Amino acid sequence: MSTRPHKPAPATPAPGKLPLPELLEMKKRGDKIVMITAYDAPAARIADEAGVELILVGDTAAMVMLGHESTLPVTLDEMIFLTRAVTRAAGRPLVVGDLPFGTYEVSDEQAVASAIRMVKEGGADVVKLEGAGRMLSRVRAIAESNIGIMGHVGLTPQSATKLGGFKAQGRTGAAAKQLFDDALALQEAGAFAVVLEAVPAAVAVRVSAALDVPTIGIGAGAGTDGQVLVWHDMLGMYEGRTPRFVKRYAEIAEEIGDAVAQYAEEVRTSAFPEEQHTYGITAEELDRFESLLRNP
Ligand code: KIV
Repeated sequence: MSTRPHKPAPATPAPGKLPLPELLEMKKRGDKIVMITAYDAPAARIADEAGVELILVGDTAAMVMLGHESTLPVTLDEMIFLTRAVTRAAGRPLVVGDLPFGTYEVSDEQAVASAIRMVKEGGADVVKLEGAGRMLSRVRAIAESNIGIMGHVGLTPQSATKLGGFKAQGRTGAAAKQLFDDALALQEAGAFAVVLEAVPAAVAVRVSAALDVPTIGIGAGAGTDGQVLVWHDMLGMYEGRTPRFVKRYAEIAEEIGDAVAQYAEEVRTSAFPEEQHTYGITAEELDRFESLLRNP
């Protein structure tokens, strides 16, 4: 492990945590809200320094961090472990802890208990769950427990099997109307924001205009009040299939691969470590050492 000291804190102290009502003000002003996922402290620190408003510790961790094929297997304990790492490093951004599959569907009591664990043990500022319908009651129960709750409609990966796969949603008039009603119902139930995933841009525009609370789009066009992307997708760090709505802003996996290959080559050829990576010993102490080896 590196003994390198941590990056010094910025000269001007980070301002305090973003107040949740500021998101509403941003929507009113027409200022776009930036959300990005993160699953560890270094990523949270980078996101904070980049000035994002929201960091989502998404259950996409199951796929991009833990190597699962879907988001379903990740547990609440695993999500809390990751969320704790993020909240240690996230200064100003609000940290959204995603409730994984199986931790809120059974009852309102289960949902509130999971949300409380996410806040108390994970340090999340607010939580998120997927769906409307029966989940509206869960949203209401969490909001009534004084925990900020973010909704998520459209493509909800936890129900991808039921939806027929990872497909865009709301693409018929009737499906778009259902999505519109669901988003309004989430607001009504107490959600402070709603994620719209993989829905036609024109539908997202109508939903965003109808809601007082902000919409955060992913694959929902440019007309939502904010955007979210998955860390590994946008940085080119995920080997699996990425949806068409992902823009890759970097190819970090390639860079890491090159660096590791160079390191391996330098170890094999003894080009690494060099003098500057090595600790010395005085000639006197070295002589003493040698003599101790000869006469123990
Ligand atoms: O889990 C996640 O990362 C998400 C985003 C894709 C919105 O829910």
